[in-house]
Amino acid sequence: MAEFDAVVVGELNVDLILQDVSSFPEMGTEKIAKDMALTMGSASAILASNLAHLGAKVGFIGKLGQDPFGEIILDTLKDHGVDCGGIQRDETARTGVTVSMTFPSNYAMVTYMGAMESFSLHDIDFSYLSKGRHLHLSSFYLQPGLRPGCAELFRQAKEAHLTTSFDPGWDPQEEWKADIQEVLKLVDVFLPNEQEALNISSSRTVREALDQMDRTCQVVIIKQGEQGAIGRINGETIKIRAFEVESVDTTGAGDSFNAGFLFEWLRDSEIRQCLKAGNACGALATTKMGGSTASPSKKELDEFLASKTDEIFVH
Ligand SMILES: Nc1ncnc2c1ncn2[C@@H]1O[C@H](COP(=O)(O)OP(=O)(O)OP(=O)(O)O)[C@@H](O)[C@H]1O
Ligand SMILES: [Mg+2]
Repeated sequence: MAEFDAVVVGELNVDLILQDVSSFPEMGTEKIAKDMALTMGSASAILASNLAHLGAKVGFIGKLGQDPFGEIILDTLKDHGVDCGGIQRDETARTGVTVSMTFPSNYAMVTYMGAMESFSLHDIDFSYLSKGRHLHLSSFYLQPGLRPGCAELFRQAKEAHLTTSFDPGWDPQEEWKADIQEVLKLVDVFLPNEQEALNISSSRTVREALDQMDRTCQVVIIKQGEQGAIGRINGETIKIRAFEVESVDTTGAGDSFNAGFLFEWLRDSEIRQCLKAGNACGALATTKMGGSTASPSKKELDEFLASKTDEIFVH
């Protein structure tokens, strides 16, 4: 039997979140934030933590600098129950940092890449990976060292009989090059947001993007922020409305959605159950600052779902 339900391979950084900034920054001026937090960041770490918090056994493969930010990340992952046996400390690199400024309905971010930049296929311990029954990878475009080896990573995971999921994240260069297509051929569950899906598939509508992406991936879920999400599974399109919550910070909503969705998918739950769990974890993530602060346990997820009785599937 596999030791881990999922092994997450990916980037690691801390987030410095400046909340409720008075107005958008301008050159030569200074703005005031009403609140701040220093938390573990990175899509991959948030997903891994939130998946473990739900009760899945999760292992992590990644790279950190030997600095205080690296310690914060390791301590937080361990606290959340993630096995860190696949994480290396690189004494020549510094741990990455994302500064995120939040405004009432969105955010703006700046990232220093640090150890994330050089993390590559050569750093991956494949014997550790094969202790899992599922591989997840996020932030394809934020990992320049790993990106050329991504298709090979997925190929090896498939050879070792792991299932796979993939959240591409945003391309900061906005080039949306075709190299991602080689990875998509090896992906079971594809989890982009709407803008990513449209750019990657060069589509004008979400339906067109779904038509194209479900040719390669078994399950395609497109996250649509406060509109909820839409999925395509075995030719069926399913739309789910977002749960109504009081949102304060959308950082990590997509990664939390992934955690909820994958938690159920890895238990072979029915697809609507997976979508509901994803949608709930995404909504809950927006109710507190940071990507993991509002991450539910399985019990809290069940209580949240029980409190929401309105029909959320769009027929
Ligand atoms: N304002 C909101 N109210 C309720 N649910 C929300 C809200 N915003 C996001 N969600 C939930 O979180 C999910 C993911 O959000 P979103 O579409 O913003 O993902 P994303 O753009 O990938 O996010 P991230 O920036 O974390 O990568 C949505 O599909 C929805 O289920
Ligand atoms: Mg996302």
